[in-house]
Amino acid sequence: MSNIQASLDKTRKEMEAVAITDNIRLGEDDRSIVIIDQVKLPNVLEYKTITDLESAYQAIKKLEVRGAPAIGIFAGYAMYVLSKQDEDLEKEEFLKKFRENREYLNSSRPTAVNLSWALKRMDAVAEDNKEKTVKEILEQLKKEAVSIHEEDIQMCLNICEYGLSLLKDGDGVLTHCNAGPLATSFGTAQGPFLLAKARGMDIRVFADETRPLLQGARLTSFELDRAGVDVTLICDNMASLVMRNGWIDKVFVGCDRIAANGDTANKIGTSGVAILAKHYGIPVYTLGPTSTIDMNCPDGDHIHIELRDPDEIKTMWYEKPMAPEHVKCYNPSFDVTDHTLLSGIVTEKGIVYPPFDVNLKKLFDEE
Ligand code: MRU
Repeated sequence: MSNIQASLDKTRKEMEAVAITDNIRLGEDDRSIVIIDQVKLPNVLEYKTITDLESAYQAIKKLEVRGAPAIGIFAGYAMYVLSKQDEDLEKEEFLKKFRENREYLNSSRPTAVNLSWALKRMDAVAEDNKEKTVKEILEQLKKEAVSIHEEDIQMCLNICEYGLSLLKDGDGVLTHCNAGPLATSFGTAQGPFLLAKARGMDIRVFADETRPLLQGARLTSFELDRAGVDVTLICDNMASLVMRNGWIDKVFVGCDRIAANGDTANKIGTSGVAILAKHYGIPVYTLGPTSTIDMNCPDGDHIHIELRDPDEIKTMWYEKPMAPEHVKCYNPSFDVTDHTLLSGIVTEKGIVYPPFDVNLKKLFDEE
């Protein structure tokens, strides 16, 4: 075993002591995917078994499984599980159903590139092996789905280490949305806080509640609190005050798609946080795997922003409606943070600094 792998294995053990590690797994029957239903958190930690195409589509759409890398991992397993159910079909019919399933899942959410990235990987496996038997194709599909998951684990561990290298004992860090172990394997933007805890460092985290779907309140504060990290929940509109108070040394956020010039789509509100941070002279880092970097997308203007149901703002989390029934409502799920507002992009291959158009390209050229 190489020294690098031995060191990552050590990081993994440290993370396993503080992180949720079973957010997505292949069912023991090899015909289902078992997820933690993220909509029910933090009140109920419940596992949900997904066996059919429509439930897989709805699990992504309704955010039962969410966070860019987690959606990719789930999509890989979903393609395998759905194909496994078609194992008795003739090969042509099997491949036709495979392509239809892929198209449908791909339409569930548009912004996080990891979904189409994982589906493309599964697709390439089916195409490359199409001369083989259905049984052999299935074996390869399972292998690929497991690889997507295992690679994500390694990527997260590296990102946690690189992210932690930016922090020092006593730092206050503001984060937005959820990019912890529920959203990926061991976490990207929030992974370093857990690793810091595992190593006895004292990091104070301020978690934006993240309107309207409250991923910060329901998921981030839940994950960090259960691990014993010093976390303080704030409403999104309090970020400016905590920065002005001098409580924030760095901002760590996740990402759903990074364009070739470094413009970054992340949960709605992230760009506002970055603009505030610039005002107060606080560095902003986005943390995510290279699978979230879309070199085919030149800049943020080319990122498709998902629009969601207005009821998520008006009624979803309340006993009674919180707005007049007919009032117009605009509910974009993500916004784009201009690359000029970012101090660095933390990937599993290292920290990328400006100029991002040059240095992101180098990251891929080095492969
Ligand atoms: O709508 P969501 O909850 O899927 O949005 C998630 C985010 O914006 C995360 O910050 C991003 O996907 C990174 S998760 C490691």
